[in-house]
Formats: sequence, C-alpha cells, structure tokens
Amino acid sequence: MRFTVAQVRTPLAGELRVPPDKSMSHRAVLFSAMAEGTSGLKGVLDSADVRSTIGAVRALGASVTLAPVADGSLAGTVTGWGASGPGSPDSPVECGNSGTTTRLLAGVLAGWPIRVELRGDESLSRRPMGRITGPLEQMGARFETADGCLPMSVLGTSEGLALEYESPIASAQVKSAVLLAGLRAQGRTSVTEPAPSRDHTERMLPLFGVSVGRAEESCRAWVDGPVIPTAAQVDVPADPSSAAFPAVAASIVPGSKVTLSHVGLNPTRTGFMLVLERMGVDLSIAVDDHGATEPVGTIVVSYRDRLVATTVTEQEIPALIDEIPVLAVIAAQADGVTRFEGVGELRVKESDRLQAIVDALSTLGVVTNVDGDTLEVTGLAGQPFSPAEGALFDSLGDHRLAMAWAVAGLACATPIAIDGFEAVEVSYPRFIDDMASIGAW
Ligand code: S3P
Repeated sequence: MRFTVAQVRTPLAGELRVPPDKSMSHRAVLFSAMAEGTSGLKGVLDSADVRSTIGAVRALGASVTLAPVADGSLAGTVTGWGASGPGSPDSPVECGNSGTTTRLLAGVLAGWPIRVELRGDESLSRRPMGRITGPLEQMGARFETADGCLPMSVLGTSEGLALEYESPIASAQVKSAVLLAGLRAQGRTSVTEPAPSRDHTERMLPLFGVSVGRAEESCRAWVDGPVIPTAAQVDVPADPSSAAFPAVAASIVPGSKVTLSHVGLNPTRTGFMLVLERMGVDLSIAVDDHGATEPVGTIVVSYRDRLVATTVTEQEIPALIDEIPVLAVIAAQADGVTRFEGVGELRVKESDRLQAIVDALSTLGVVTNVDGDTLEVTGLAGQPFSPAEGALFDSLGDHRLAMAWAVAGLACATPIAIDGFEAVEVSYPRFIDDMASIGAW
C-alpha cells in the first residue's frame, strides 16, 4: 500500500492512547503458554507480530481464547502446557516478521526433548540467530539453521545445563532466550550484558511465580531452575515505542500539543524521552500508576522552537534502539550535528535500518555521516525538508521505517509517498487513524 503525506500547516492537538506494548504482549502470551493453569490477559496488542506468537503457542499445544475488545486490544485466556511441556507441531511454526517470537521461543524450546522448525518471512530469514544458538547450544540444545538464519530447527533437551552467560551484545531477546532456557536447567543460569537492555522478562516472570535475581549495577540477571511458571493475570500498558511517533510529530510541527495516555514508563524503554528533552522538546511525564510490574503514565508533548542537536551514547542505545529511525527525523530538524554512537545493531533489525536512515535522510535533503557504528545527522534547524517533487520512500517491509518517514512527511516542503505502508500492521495497525485523530493528515 502506498501512503502519501503532505506538510501539515496546523498544530497537532489532542489525546491518544497508542496500542499496547509489543514486547510485553509477546511475553504475556509466551509465559502464559509455558505456565501451569489458565492465565487471564488484558490489553494485549492485536498486531501481526503478536499474532505470530499466539499462532506459535497454539501450534505447540497452548489453548488461547484471546479476542479483540472495544479498545482494539486483545483480552481473554491462555491455558499453558505447564509441566507436560509443548507438543510436537505437525508442521513448521511460522514466526512471520517477529524476531522476538523466534528468539524467545528458541529459548523456551531448548529445554524440551522435541524438534520444532521455526520459519519466518523474508526479512526475518535474513536476521542472525547465532546470537541465541551459541548460548543455547552450551545449555544442551541443538540447532539446524540455514547459515545461521531461519529456517531453523530446534532440538531441545530435557537435560538442560545451567549457564553463566556473558553476552557480547545488549539484547533483551538474547537475555530472555537464555533465561527462559534456564527455567528448565538444573541450577543457576545468569546473563550479564554490556549495557542494560529492556527488562520486561525479569519484571514479568515473578508474576508467573518465577523468582528472578538481579544485580542491576552489573547488568546481570539470573534464574534458578528447574521451575515451571504458574498462571497469572497480566494487563499490558501502551507501547512507548509506538508513542515515539506522535511524540516526535508533535515536536516538529509548530504549535502542537499532544497527550499520550497510559504509556509504559519502564526506564529501560524511555530513553527517547530523555533525548527529546535534551533536544529542547517540552515534555511532561507523570507516573499515574506503578502497575503490577511496570510504571504507567501520561506524557504531554508540547512543541518548542529551536531544537538542538545532542549526542546519544552507546550506553543509552538499548533503551531507545527501536526509536532511532524516528529520532533521526527529529535530529534532522534540530540545530547542529546529532551523534548516535554504537548503533551497529541497527544493521540487523527488520531491515538494515542504518542504511535506510542514511538513504531516507539524503532523499529529504539532509546530510548524514556514518563512521563505524556512529551515525551523525546534520539538522536543518527547523527548515522544512526538501525532497524532489514526487519523492518515493520504500518501507523495506519495516514497520518503524514506514512510520518514521510518515512523520518526516509532516515537515516536507513537497508531499512524499511511502510504499509498503502495510508494514505498520506489525506493531501499530491503527497508525494512520490515530495520527489523523491528532490532525497529522
Ligand atoms: C525486543 C528487544 C529488542 C528490540 C525488539 C524487541 C524484545 O531487540 O529491538 O524490537 O521484545 O525483547 P534486541 O534484543 O535484538 O535488541
């Protein structure tokens, strides 16, 4: 689908509740499927990625009654396989576009003596799996992959070995895969990371009766196995990563004021808010509720002119990794050179996001520079972007690119079009309507 965006000349205004958190939705479904008993879930994201996780756990024997409710989220129950373990599916398990489904599921399956083949779409089939197969093999599982990528068969073991894993990358998917495999192993399994990645697994597992040890100063988390999770009640808040799109839109459209409600405010996810504040955006953030596992609150974003460039350090990257495409858009509107340090991981996301950012910003008339893993964006100090007449962007099948370029379109002197816009189904199916409701188009 092609989506066309023109410069918006009136301020964005209004209140929005963006869709539920994708990372938490995957975990709520997956942990319920692993648990003994019937869990009750509310506020689960209804999107292509989460449907991949739901389809996968069904194929492995969990019974799922999640169905859409009035606000567009999914609510219902999941009855897990518990101590009986997942069943062997008759056919390969389809993970679609979802890296989180694939990598977390590989960790879950590592501890059960069955063989499961995981498949994905073209984008997922290019993404590296060695980062999880390495540690999971040390825990006793075996894998057959296509050169380190999907399709991948997991051959689990009921005699899993505990592991002390020093992860070379700050990745919540790697950390979660190892900890989930650790639930089936005898003894303590720990993961130490070079920087703190999102900690939804550590926060949510205790709801399912699994204690998780943590030494936050050293970015280390551990579980003691074997342990079978027990059913829980989970209510998922709105996704800060989805909130980043209207937040940046309100930051670059003069006069805007947008309220984003019931947003998850887990500090391992809110890095982009700190960056917006540093760049001069007027942001008010109020925690309304400490929730069962995660703080939730309201963000009010008010436009202020003269955005200034900033440096985003490597340590900050994991807390805003998915927001970098849209942060590159605000950087391109700021005054000065914004540096994003240590962003090599962008090359192995749903697309090569580093190259995609460089290409898209160049089409918008913005100068960038990539030096190793550092991206520099020279901002236009509030001048509208100046793409050629009829400029066309390709989402590359990547939801976050589609939405980031749509936000950029709001500040373009001539309309732009984005092809493959249906990619937004992965995390934010109602993006066009939600943005329309605050006056973006
Ligand atoms: C996710 C972790 C991050 C993030 C992804 C979701 C998760 O990936 O980019 O969108 O839910 O655990 P990495 O673990 O590869 O950094």
